[in-house]
Amino acid sequence: MTTAELEKDAAIYRDRRLPEHLEAIAAEIRRLARERNAVILAHNYQVPEVQDVADHVGDSLGLSRIAAATDADVIVFCGVHFMAETAAILSPRRRVLIPDLEAGCSLAASIDAGELRAWKAKHPGALVVSYVNTTAEVKALSDYCCTSGNAERVIRAIPEDREILFLPDLFLGTYLERVTGRKMHIWPGECHVHAGILPGDIEQARRMHGDADLLVHPECGCASQCMYFSTTGDLEAQRTYILSTEGMVQHSQQSPRSSFVVATELGIMHRLRKEAPGNAFFVASERAICRYMKRITLDKVLASLRDDVYEVSVDSAVAACAELAIRRMVEI
Ligand code: 13P
Ligand code: SF4
Repeated sequence: MTTAELEKDAAIYRDRRLPEHLEAIAAEIRRLARERNAVILAHNYQVPEVQDVADHVGDSLGLSRIAAATDADVIVFCGVHFMAETAAILSPRRRVLIPDLEAGCSLAASIDAGELRAWKAKHPGALVVSYVNTTAEVKALSDYCCTSGNAERVIRAIPEDREILFLPDLFLGTYLERVTGRKMHIWPGECHVHAGILPGDIEQARRMHGDADLLVHPECGCASQCMYFSTTGDLEAQRTYILSTEGMVQHSQQSPRSSFVVATELGIMHRLRKEAPGNAFFVASERAICRYMKRITLDKVLASLRDDVYEVSVDSAVAACAELAIRRMVEI
């Protein structure tokens, strides 16, 4: 794309307006949030209008940190259920609401507490590292929690002589083994959205946008191939980056390049275009849409604040055990 084309694109994006009825809902949400001393948190995969109405937009690690530090009375969590649970554990005195209780996560659903107990019994003495996409009960049985933003640091912080059970994401676990050189036992779970981004999608994007940086979420099915690119030392390697959603935003703001192929859920494109204008962003796969994240709409955020629904709370015994693993994640 030429500079003139990029500028035109950025201007169209900057000047876009919400339809009038959505503007009115957004204004009412802001009014109610002030009235109730509520903070609205939105994950990077939320629909654009929900991101725009939120006080903070970020990845799971960033939003956990904000939830832990907030002095708001109410947290409206526009994301999926395990994220709201994490906020409830870190902020027990706040009322945590999720606008739609059906906003789940296929990755978090790939292991439950019973399965983890059985796995631990087969490896007594092993440390359990759980990706944040897990239920509170699974976190409560874990030693460490991590996100895509700090997983590598968490693994490196564990003494060399300890056996590690890593769950639930197969692709992230394989990626971590590669970058840290640590052998781990990895649970064979996957996110259906990221597993659906295939090596063929990346090859095609590479062909079409040869001069772009490739930004890949470590949960992707194509991650193993991208890891190969990123360690082979050729030209493609220099342009392949395995990043959390927040890492993608930072990378595109700091990179000398102006075009990027993005291999993750499509909601991130809104933030990228908004916060790194003047760049061209291309999606690796049009299919990468998380139907759980998209359950949250402006109407539901409004209903959540107005009707005080749906509260997310965690049993206190489970929360006490899970909190230790989550605090380690937030601190590392
Ligand atoms: P981040 O940790 O990068 O926000 O990703 C969360 C998630 O659900 C990925 O699908
Ligand atoms: Fe879960 Fe995948 Fe959706 Fe992320 S994109 S919330 S991992 S189902």
